[in-house]
Amino acid sequence: MSEGLFVTLEGGDGSGKSTQAELLEQWLVERGRTVVRTREPGGTDVGVEIREIVLHHRGDIAPRAEALLYAADRAHHVATVVRPALARGDVVVQDRYLDSSVAYQGAGRVLDPAEVRRLSEWATERLLPDLTILLDLPSEISRARLHGARTRYDRLEAEAVDFHDRVRASYLQLAEAEPARIVVVDAERSVGEIAAVIRARVEPFL
Ligand code: ADP
Ligand code: TYD
Repeated sequence: MSEGLFVTLEGGDGSGKSTQAELLEQWLVERGRTVVRTREPGGTDVGVEIREIVLHHRGDIAPRAEALLYAADRAHHVATVVRPALARGDVVVQDRYLDSSVAYQGAGRVLDPAEVRRLSEWATERLLPDLTILLDLPSEISRARLHGARTRYDRLEAEAVDFHDRVRASYLQLAEAEPARIVVVDAERSVGEIAAVIRARVEPFL
């Protein structure tokens, strides 16, 4: 593998991923590392167009088509941004990756989570993060946070609370299955406390 480090942040909408990604980037830069902070969907020019379709298309998208769109975004992102950065020895701090597809597309009840996972593995030629931070938060708390912060809801955020509860449960199952890669962090704590827990988990990799 490469000299770089691949860290992903996962969790429900409004669980604090982008807040923590920014703080982690600052800390890594202070320690002299070159950081590529990126996200899915939408971490490339092609990805921005795919993001517009998956999040803002009016009307339904068939579940398999939706899963393929996220996988297409991921394939292009990994090939053109993530792998080149890791090959240079950079740290990639990424908001969402394949666990998002397993948790969200799997939670729609139509697709088999194991198949969704295999699709992402194919798309990325099996690139797994070195470390995944799962920000775990009851969905009613993240909704309350988002209500305060934003008025425009995208298509997925507008879906029912029970969908988000299934997403949360699915994430926790993934963490149980891969405890060496996925670290569960209690996202009800303060921004500073969570940032400190994340730094402590990242430090051994540096
Ligand atoms: P995500 O990227 O997961 O959607 P954000 O980082 O955008 O989440 O956070 C969603 C909202 O919650 C923002 O208004 C943010 O300021 C707030 N927030 C983030 N972390 C915390 C925290 N630990 N406690 C309380 N509010 C938080
Ligand atoms: P994101 O921009 O990270 O939203 P938020 O900041 O609200 O967490 O992600 C947008 C939405 O895309 C989010 O609801 C989760 C969904 N998503 C999937 O369903 N599958 C995926 O593979 C990815 C990457 C995201």
